Amino acid sequence: MYKAPRGTSDILPQEQAYWKYVEEKAASLCQLYGYQLLTTPIFEDSQLFAPTVAGGQIAVDKEMYIFEDRSGQKLALRAEGTAPVCRAYLEHGLFNLPQPVKLYYIGPAFRYERPQAGRYRQHHQFGYEAIGDADPALDAEVIEMARRFFLSLGLSGFSCQLNSIGCNLCQPKYIEALRRHYSSYTAHLCPDCKARLLRNPLRLLDCKKASCQKIAETAPRITDYLCPECQAHFQSVQQYLEALGIPFQLNYRLVRGLDYYTRTVFEVGPQEEGAQSTLGGGGRYDNLIAQLGGKPTAGVGFAAGIERIILNLKRQKIAIPALSKPIAFIAYLGEGAKIRAIKLASELRQSGIAVIAAAGDKSLKGQLRQADSLGIDNALLIGKAEVESQTVILRDMKSGEQKVIPLAEVAAAFKRKQKSG
Ligand code: HAM
Repeated sequence: MYKAPRGTSDILPQEQAYWKYVEEKAASLCQLYGYQLLTTPIFEDSQLFAPTVAGGQIAVDKEMYIFEDRSGQKLALRAEGTAPVCRAYLEHGLFNLPQPVKLYYIGPAFRYERPQAGRYRQHHQFGYEAIGDADPALDAEVIEMARRFFLSLGLSGFSCQLNSIGCNLCQPKYIEALRRHYSSYTAHLCPDCKARLLRNPLRLLDCKKASCQKIAETAPRITDYLCPECQAHFQSVQQYLEALGIPFQLNYRLVRGLDYYTRTVFEVGPQEEGAQSTLGGGGRYDNLIAQLGGKPTAGVGFAAGIERIILNLKRQKIAIPALSKPIAFIAYLGEGAKIRAIKLASELRQSGIAVIAAAGDKSLKGQLRQADSLGIDNALLIGKAEVESQTVILRDMKSGEQKVIPLAEVAAAFKRKQKSG
């Protein structure tokens, strides 16, 4: 028996109401803020993700799904959404439009990770990006949007952690100080952090191991090393957030997992839990577009994991609107009745009434059981007598009440039902 690959899952019909709910909230949020939908391919040139993993961020590097196609081109399954959006921005000359250009996306992302609750090899992201202006008010807007999104879903008890990781000017000096601090503790570092010390010292700060966290506690803070421009930008972001009444917590150890960030970084998640529970994260990436071959262009954005959102919706027992179901199930007894049933189903659908017609040679009881398990409110029963009298029996599936109605009046009766309910 085949199974879905490890770390992936089928989204079964009974789960789809959650997905529709989240995707509709995402779309209406973006409509509210003037972000337009952009859909990019599932795979890209693998080099596109190089700046995302450039600093030797070992994990993501190993996490990419990279393959060669028949022509020998090296491709990668989309690991995240920001680099593809920036690629599309450059490829389609969106820099010629008035800036910033505001875009959003919803789709799968692929990372070869160790699967566990809330961490998958294929997950889905809703993300949005404002590209083409370095205004700190955009950082605040992007953060406000994230908060409004989670609130609109009905989620509560999450917080926003905020930090600035500086720019090309100030970050190297900070990294030097960080290296100095950690060098005196090398014997106490976990193997991952030993590698991080060489390849990506910023990530030392968010190691989850208790022994490493202790060393992080006394580490120098990036905010003490920011250049005046980064300092001013960070202050402005905070002022705008305060003006908007957006609560946030400064977290000098927040560095984020991807390498393209500059200045603002932020994460949203339930306060009490660890990394797997982070609902979403984002920040500014003012060097990324130049690294992809464009002119220096600022950008800021955010992405949230839809599976994690749904886990939280379930955990918080948020009521989700049910998906609409067909209004009637058409059951029949005998071949003549079957033809009538199939024709009736087709005619009702033609007038926009959703119905399911029974199939196969189940007993009437079996057909009604199926209608019941599909949660359908009405059944239309057709037997030999109904064929002859040009009628149908309309059965209320909840009460069991039945009445005979002329065939010609079925569509109008359901139209009335649809209107009233
Ligand atoms: P990220 O933090 O890597 O950021 O991913 C965003 C969100 O996707 C995470 O907060 C998490 O909810 C979800 N996620 C990530 N990996 C997994 C996984 N393996 N399984 C389940 N959910 C996962 C980005 O991808 C950036 N592109 C965000 C961004 C947009 N920055 C600027 N603009």
